Amino acid sequence: METIDLSAYARIVFFTGAGMSAESGVPTYRGKGGIWSAYDFEEYACQKAFERDPEKVLRFHEIRRRAVLDCYPHAGHGVMADIPEASIVTQNIDGMHQRAGSAEVIELHGSLWRLRCDRCWMVKEDYGRDYETLRCGCGSWLRPDITWFGDTLDGAVMRKASKSIAACDLFISIGTSGTVWPAAGFPSLARDSGAYCIEINPEPSGSTGYHRVVREEAGKVLPILFHCKMKR
Ligand code: APR
Repeated sequence: METIDLSAYARIVFFTGAGMSAESGVPTYRGKGGIWSAYDFEEYACQKAFERDPEKVLRFHEIRRRAVLDCYPHAGHGVMADIPEASIVTQNIDGMHQRAGSAEVIELHGSLWRLRCDRCWMVKEDYGRDYETLRCGCGSWLRPDITWFGDTLDGAVMRKASKSIAACDLFISIGTSGTVWPAAGFPSLARDSGAYCIEINPEPSGSTGYHRVVREEAGKVLPILFHCKMKR
């Protein structure tokens, strides 16, 4: 397989989705075994559900946290962490890139490891299997600081991601169905800005127009594509 010559590029962006964590054992959202085929998002992942029954929604996210903590980053995460000059823009909330050693990760859809209070705007990091507390000091329920269905993405985070993608010369999309907007627009932003665009996904996705498509699993193929950078 043709490897990627990093020295040919000045600004690299990895854009990842749930498929990036699939080989770690974290379920994807769509398709067979996907989270949204097991759980109704209207019950667990939208503001209305939270307002109806905050504890039920928080307990669902606690189950997801425990499941993620039982999974570990794979070789593909390691390859990306070994290219610190590259930017990582992820739709994932699982923190797997950080656990692999990537310091700068733009998390478009927030993080399972943060809670926020929508009354007093307090944001709290919380990394345990169980939440330390479900309530803010002000008495309100804390809300997982993630983007649910119907939520608007954080404007500052979107601007940072868009800026980095519009300026890159190599864009590598990994493990996303490319169906959830506005993130689904990033591959075309990269292409229209002149980047060479690669997709890594064992299945066809909703995005087209890549210069190169690698129909392989991320954990298997990233070490091959970047073999020259492998230190682990
Ligand atoms: N390597 C690479 N890609 C893979 C792998 C793998 N080992 N396994 C599965 N995939 C691909 C699937 O073929 C699919 O195209 O990962 C993709 C996962 O798609 P989704 O489950 O739709 O995940 P994602 O695109 O990240 O979803 C976007 O939807 O509900 C929301 O907020 C949630 O951030 C999420 C957003």
